[in-house]
Amino acid sequence: MEIRHSRPKRIAGFGLVRIMPKHSDETPKNGFSPFLKWPGGKRWLAPLLTPIIRRELKGLYYEPFVGGGAVFFNLKPERAVLSDINAELITALGTVCERTNDVIQKILTFANDKECYYRARSTKPRTAIMAAARFIYLNRTCWGGLYRLNRRGEFNVPFGNSGRPVCPVSAIRSCAGAFKNATLQCSDFGEVMLQAEKGDAIYADPPYSLRGKNNGFLRYNDKLFSWEDQKRLAKVSSRIARRGVFIVISGIWHEDLLSLYPGWWSLRLSRKSLVSGNVKGRRLISELLLFSKKPRSCILPIQRVPVKFGCGRDASCPAPPAQIRT
Ligand SMILES: C[S@@+](CC[C@H](N)C(=O)[O-])C[C@H]1O[C@@H](n2cnc3c(N)ncnc32)[C@H](O)[C@@H]1O
Repeated sequence: MEIRHSRPKRIAGFGLVRIMPKHSDETPKNGFSPFLKWPGGKRWLAPLLTPIIRRELKGLYYEPFVGGGAVFFNLKPERAVLSDINAELITALGTVCERTNDVIQKILTFANDKECYYRARSTKPRTAIMAAARFIYLNRTCWGGLYRLNRRGEFNVPFGNSGRPVCPVSAIRSCAGAFKNATLQCSDFGEVMLQAEKGDAIYADPPYSLRGKNNGFLRYNDKLFSWEDQKRLAKVSSRIARRGVFIVISGIWHEDLLSLYPGWWSLRLSRKSLVSGNVKGRRLISELLLFSKKPRSCILPIQRVPVKFGCGRDASCPAPPAQIRT
């Protein structure tokens, strides 16, 4: 995968980096591409984040919202704790690690067509291998890689007609190898993050949410990631940052979110949203990266988050940018 940056520009006292990602299933030069197409996946961001995290990481690497694991696969840390609240995802990743060939063989029995898709969707898998194969197959062939369950807990995303190969064999093998040095855990982020110690590094990529609304962003699961969860994340992050844990958090650029992290460091990233099904809906969005301390190797225009935020009258107290609709 390639990533191109235009020249970093400064806007209203805050740095803006424009990112134009090229999406592909190919293995990037350094690291692996994830084999899952995960909503909000950070394939596009991984090459930018990897050198920053690598420089700060002295101990364990944590990804408490691992999803498709794009940053983990790019970083390839020696030891990692990967967790997510999605139990089906974590179980499937564990099975891929332990029974790689069996899972690949099973996925290869599926076809990327409507009939096969709806048959697989309505089937209840009887073995762990079948469950992992079905999970990966549905993820790669459903609409937008979404994960959504109905009230009965059944996967109900429609067929996506993506034309994507159902089984990226080499990506699955590489990723399965990377899991051998990782602990996989199905858990809420809070519990896992509190285990981190001085010298550890965390990349937290929660579902995007802001105060009082779900902003048209996606529900990944039964439960929406609420504003209370955002505040909980900020609280636990600030607590462990004081212990010497290096933390990077992704979010949407908005003063409400920035105001939870006074004294942290921020970077504004601008890119086309790929969430919408039609091209018109793919608006330019501003994303936010928050750093618990100023990264040593970073040449990007990062700025200190002011303690007081939001009046917009001067550069040290900016209002949210116009293109963010809340
Ligand atoms: C934006 S996605 C992560 C995408 C990932 N960075 C990637 O590159 O594919 C957010 C993830 O957070 C998980 N999640 C939601 N609420 C959570 C919680 N309370 N604790 C842990 N994980 C949670 C979702 O299941 C989803 O996989």
